Amino acid sequence: MTTNNTAPKISPSLLAADFTKFGKEVDRVVAAGADMLHFDVMDGEFVPNFGISPLSIAAVRDRTEIMFDVHIMVTHPLRYIDALVGVGSDMITFHIESDDEPYAVISAIKAHNIKAGIAFSPNTKCDEIFPFLSDIDLVLPMSVEPGLGGQAFIPDTLNKIEQLHQFIHKLDNAPDISVDGGVTIEVGPVAAEKGATILVAGTAIFKSNHPKEVIDKLRTTK
Ligand code: DX5
Ligand code: ZN
Repeated sequence: MTTNNTAPKISPSLLAADFTKFGKEVDRVVAAGADMLHFDVMDGEFVPNFGISPLSIAAVRDRTEIMFDVHIMVTHPLRYIDALVGVGSDMITFHIESDDEPYAVISAIKAHNIKAGIAFSPNTKCDEIFPFLSDIDLVLPMSVEPGLGGQAFIPDTLNKIEQLHQFIHKLDNAPDISVDGGVTIEVGPVAAEKGATILVAGTAIFKSNHPKEVIDKLRTTK
């Protein structure tokens, strides 16, 4: 078994932020040592919820130089890319279960010289993602059903991370493995040991009064 002991990057998910002070929440986690910021965009169709608007992303773009990691849970990703690049996305991750042809979406994202990622939901198998791994910068196995923060981490995701890592570490340009949903200070380091290189965490970071401690603990490798 191959394991990974490089410290993962931490991407706080703004879905769990206090929206009455969205900009200050961005400042709080940047000051706490976040490596990037995760924004969830939803269309109310691919998932039965609405997430963060491009307007909100634009509103905080000038506060920090940090990477904006944008996760789109939408049926037609191609319709969103130009707008999301326009508000300052540095990486856009779309779902393999969406309706648009994956290579068309990857090309449309990369045409803007930003990073392209593919996310997949808990019921989707890694086999469906393997063909794309050489062409993307990020793969994101969801560790909860997409669309809602505050859910419990699905343990089988650790097996998926391991499978992806086994495949990826042989590639010349290995994409990052990100994990999103229910990531806590307990399971985050285990996911990193299995091969996750980016940990997305909403509730664990934003609902804490000590986000720096949480981020430091998430980053701790075994
Ligand atoms: C869920 C989102 C996640 C979510 C994570 O669909 O993609 O980014 O905000 O939140 P927690 O860490 O609370 O599960
Ligand atoms: Zn997300």
